[in-house]
Amino acid sequence: MSDVLVRLTVNGQPREGRCAPRTLLVDFLRESLGLTGTHVGCEHGICGACTVLIDGEAARSCLMLAVQADGVAIVTIEGLMQDGALHPLQEAFREHHGLQCGFCTPGMLMTALDLLRVKPEPSEADIREGLSAVLCRCTGYHGIVKAVQAAAPRVRAGTS
Ligand code: FES
Ligand code: FES
Repeated sequence: MSDVLVRLTVNGQPREGRCAPRTLLVDFLRESLGLTGTHVGCEHGICGACTVLIDGEAARSCLMLAVQADGVAIVTIEGLMQDGALHPLQEAFREHHGLQCGFCTPGMLMTALDLLRVKPEPSEADIREGLSAVLCRCTGYHGIVKAVQAAAPRVRAGTS
């Protein structure tokens, strides 16, 4: 089957690319658009490494075809830095040792961002539950939870 054209907005910029109709969104982002910050792990919706924001909500880009994303607005990990400065959530992950190997980190950050949108003042239990579907093999989650707790007031201040 011939390739199809997919047009969408990524990190505020209009982007387009051609791919086979069966191409997963995560592969389209990485291979057609060169946005390799979004990681691909399990490819069947379990690990959360591929999480991006689609029209503002966290979603697993391995569970969607690229053609289904035609016309949507996506934010990937590459879109978090602004004017050369880390996003407050990225700063907090750095300060609180919220990562080790970094494989889960893009999906963890995008999931945490969505959690803070839905629950701007999350309890520790909220954070643990909200991030429980993103698998981290390294950190034991302790630093990640601390980082999200530290980032919450900074993210609120930035969005109010
Ligand atoms: S690669 Fe998408 S959930 Fe694991
Ligand atoms: S930091 Fe290694 S998997 Fe999370």
